[in-house]
Amino acid sequence: MTETPPAATPPASATGPAAGPATTPAATPAGGPVVETLFATRIYRAELAEALALNPELAASCRSAAEDDGAGQDWSARNLYPGYTSYASVDDLPWRYPAVKTLKGLIDRHVKAFAKLQDWDLGDRKLVLDNLWINILDPGGFHGSHIHPNSVVSGTYYVEIPPGASALRLEDPRLGLMMAAPPRKRKAARETQPFVALEPKPGTLLLWESWLRHEVVMNAAESERISISFNYAWR
Ligand SMILES: [Fe+2]
Repeated sequence: MTETPPAATPPASATGPAAGPATTPAATPAGGPVVETLFATRIYRAELAEALALNPELAASCRSAAEDDGAGQDWSARNLYPGYTSYASVDDLPWRYPAVKTLKGLIDRHVKAFAKLQDWDLGDRKLVLDNLWINILDPGGFHGSHIHPNSVVSGTYYVEIPPGASALRLEDPRLGLMMAAPPRKRKAARETQPFVALEPKPGTLLLWESWLRHEVVMNAAESERISISFNYAWR
């Protein structure tokens, strides 16, 4: 299987109707009100067929890393991580495991596509992988709400997502400013909800800006949920 390369130009549905420089929205034919959606928070999702084919090898690499990484096991236990994470203990996974190296190459391309979608002017610097780590979340485990400081783009690639495995729950970044904002109706449009849960599948890649607060809700699956997370910095 081959992976569909990241789109050079984002689809119209992702960019809104007006690509290019700022525009003033046209009035409706009846002269009614015009409503713009501004200050977009982009969540980038791609299903990586090429990486999906590597998932058995990636899962074996993750489990092997977990077995060998006593420091990571200790860190996970001390920090009450329900399972194993290499976050604080291993910084060279792409060089240790060929499948992770291949995955890194795929993620690099998608991060580049995301930066283009965002219209970022990176000047003579680039977005480069800063760190990449394994998460093996036990049944019943969760990872509380957090952001990824000192990074520009963060994301996760999903290796094993058994039925009932945790979603990724995103929080409206303006939540702390909503002093008297009414709650949203249950059936409110997704773009106006204060929290949105994304349900990944094996092979899913999600990217977001690192300041976006997110959490991994409880893993209701009967087996481990395995993912690989990463941060890209602007250097
Ligand atoms: Fe995170």
